[in-house]
Amino acid sequence: MSFNTIAINQRMDQFDGHHRVWLFGYGSLIFKADFPYIERRPATISNWTRRFWQGSHDHRGTETAPGRVATLVAQPGAVTAGMAYLITPEVFTHLDHREKNGYLRLAIDIRFDDGSSELGLVYIATEDNEAFLGEASEFDIARQIARSHGPSGANRDYLIDLAHALRELGMEDTHVFDIERYLVDMGAIPADANHDS
Ligand code: SIN
Repeated sequence: MSFNTIAINQRMDQFDGHHRVWLFGYGSLIFKADFPYIERRPATISNWTRRFWQGSHDHRGTETAPGRVATLVAQPGAVTAGMAYLITPEVFTHLDHREKNGYLRLAIDIRFDDGSSELGLVYIATEDNEAFLGEASEFDIARQIARSHGPSGANRDYLIDLAHALRELGMEDTHVFDIERYLVDMGAIPADANHDS
């Protein structure tokens, strides 16, 4: 079931008065930056890990046949790599709409390659949102992704684009790369699209 979070996110006032805010992207926000930003830098966050456990009823699937997209799941000690964008607060109107199916803005410490860090925001779809699908094996996730399509396109393209972007940035993610490998094995992605092999 889809779950609209726009109103909750609009009440988030932690960064009120700030002219610029860092946003950490770990899923489609890495490979599809359809918003203005002042600067972007590869970055990491700690104690969260990327998982394809969130349902997509609005972008990569439908209400009755949801796809699977990335969210973050708490895991002490984990480090997740992504892309940080320095944006102005007006951009959140667009982002809240784009991330409306279950994602909530959360304040988070964002660490940059030079060792510096900034408090910023991340969109996380936690397990209590109604669009959360939860844990499944990488094989089962690949099977669901292979058959899912939505208004933003094929679910497999989200996975492929994310895997390519992570690889280009030199970032490791066995969860993402394992799903990608299963998609290749299933014939859902041409083998030459997998730059690992
Ligand atoms: C993100 O990319 O940071 C959030 C999840 C998504 O939009 O794919």
